[in-house]
Amino acid sequence: MKKIALLASGSGSNVENIVRYFHSNKELVFFVLSNKKEAYVHERAKKLNLPAYTIDKTGFENGEALQFLLDEHTDFIVLAGFLLKIPENILHVYSGKIINIHPALLPKYGGKGMYGHHVHEAVVAAKETESGITIHYVNEHYDEGQIIFQAKCEVLPADSAEEVARKVHLLEYRYFPEVIEQIVLHK
Ligand code: GAR
Repeated sequence: MKKIALLASGSGSNVENIVRYFHSNKELVFFVLSNKKEAYVHERAKKLNLPAYTIDKTGFENGEALQFLLDEHTDFIVLAGFLLKIPENILHVYSGKIINIHPALLPKYGGKGMYGHHVHEAVVAAKETESGITIHYVNEHYDEGQIIFQAKCEVLPADSAEEVARKVHLLEYRYFPEVIEQIVLHK
């Protein structure tokens, strides 16, 4: 059995989708770790009977989060809408065991400040004809770790940032659990 930490800062719809996908799979167990105690992901966790914890930015920076992950016997870390930079101490211990999903086709629209709606607004402003998702390993630079998987969607001239976000979320729901399954269970 492997224990997966799902790190999330906001709504947590990907967290919910991942947990539902693995519902009847006894090989994986999940818990949520958020940096925001008011994040909606906590409501979802309650509904899903999923253990959920909060450690704030300071706790990530001072080693508390690493100690917590180790105490929980965490095997793998999945960033599902997590907006803090992962500190060096966690990267070092969990090298090759942290993946992130980014709501664009990296290397475009990545880096500091490029998250959630900011990404989709930038894609629309640049009149891109496509966007998509990137699932990648996490390293010390924002959104620059080795790419594992990408999928594309069309962006039409009339699409708003909200519409692009909707299309991208659909790709996330479809592919993120499958990629996690491949990486964590079959590698
Ligand atoms: C997702 O679209 C994810 O790709 C993005 O935040 C959203 C979270 O949605 N992540 C980033 O922008 C990271 N740079 P959710 O909370 O509903 O799963």
